[in-house]
Amino acid sequence: MFDANTYTQRRQQLKQQLGGGLILLLGNEEASMNYKDNWYPFYQDSTFRYYFGLDLADLTGILDIDRDEVILFGPEQSMDDVIWMGALPSLASLAEQVGVSKVLPTEKIANYIASAKSLHFLPPYRPEHLLKLQAWTGKTVLEPSLPLIQAVVAQRSIKSEEEIQEIERAVNYTARMHRNVMQFAREGMKEHEVASEALRYAESTGNLLSFPIICTTQGQILHNHYRGNTLRQGDMLLLDAGIQTPAGYAGDMTRTFPVGPTFTGRQRELYQVVLETHEAAMAALKPGILYKDVHLLACRKLTDGLKQVGLMRGDTEEAVQAGAHTMFFQCGLGHMMGMDVHDMENLGEQYVGYTPELRKSTEFGLKSLRLGRALESGFVLTVEPGIYIIPELIDMRRNDKVTQQFINFEKLDTYRDFGGIRIEDDLLITENGSRILGEPLDRTLAEVEAIRQQAL
Ligand code: GLY
Ligand code: MN
Repeated sequence: MFDANTYTQRRQQLKQQLGGGLILLLGNEEASMNYKDNWYPFYQDSTFRYYFGLDLADLTGILDIDRDEVILFGPEQSMDDVIWMGALPSLASLAEQVGVSKVLPTEKIANYIASAKSLHFLPPYRPEHLLKLQAWTGKTVLEPSLPLIQAVVAQRSIKSEEEIQEIERAVNYTARMHRNVMQFAREGMKEHEVASEALRYAESTGNLLSFPIICTTQGQILHNHYRGNTLRQGDMLLLDAGIQTPAGYAGDMTRTFPVGPTFTGRQRELYQVVLETHEAAMAALKPGILYKDVHLLACRKLTDGLKQVGLMRGDTEEAVQAGAHTMFFQCGLGHMMGMDVHDMENLGEQYVGYTPELRKSTEFGLKSLRLGRALESGFVLTVEPGIYIIPELIDMRRNDKVTQQFINFEKLDTYRDFGGIRIEDDLLITENGSRILGEPLDRTLAEVEAIRQQAL
């Protein structure tokens, strides 16, 4: 948690931005897995945490701009809570830690908001958010506030110095977690044994994971959560994993490395294509550039590389315009990152990654690009190009005339069991360009092979 002033200033900025009305910010409740008292690990709503700091369940914040007051609503602990969960400070002293001087019991919310001239709230993404909003407002159909969404996105998109330090801490831990796994993995292990080393590292350092680990020899499945395969000589292992610090800031990195001491010839060729695409995309980052244009630049670079390998052919620009490269790269180049690994996605991708003038495309490939808009100094984002060879997609597009023009299917058919490669780093947009966050993590062919050779 930051100093109380941080939260006071953040709330002040939001109030000024909205100008009037009542802002209702819902904290999260505990969520039950399979019966009421068996909970998933608690996850606080990130916007509530951004403005109110507290990482505890059942809290609600109100910024009443018209009455010029900020109130934290919540329960006082019962003796049962104390017995099962341990004693906490009173609601008033929790509020004081984040610069709030007025507290009220949750039951008073409905009365308090009844007199508001305009009520601003964010899109509910959990069923209980909707139920609470319906109960408190007495309405069944509820319209989230676009001005509030826009103000929160504008504020949370620009990371402050103390946030950048915290994100960098998360990325440092993330890089160390990856290095550990790169040294730990051995032929004959199951993917879940390798993933457990990442989890052990995260928990042994007092941190959390920022999303469920992707640890797979089947890297072509973009979000593969199956971990039952055995690591074999000749396989590559793709690890996409990130650490979240106790303050709630995320890291998100991916490395792909050989199970043996070296990549095979084919793996080496395609790894180099992804690496050069990753470097070209990172080099293009600067304030003012559309991230969509960085994505398209990456698609062209990837296509050039695939042409050299002999998997694609024809004019690069035309191939990318026709979407032929999506045979290999089906997703977007990256996303915003901060308190959430896909920062603020619950507020709507259109508002976080796009603008009214630049709407998200519905085309295959571009529809999965979560960030398209012009970059600004203070943004934190990922760059994560990849090559994914998906046999089902090859078969689906085999008779597509446009694809036939640009894809060498004869050669591609010999790569059906190749798998996938992704390389991902986290970057801060600076005044003049960008900076990779965190300690350097081995990335080139030589570096990755060296770490494997030393380990084996
Ligand atoms: N690292 C997971 C993702 O970006 O979707
Ligand atoms: Mn990512």
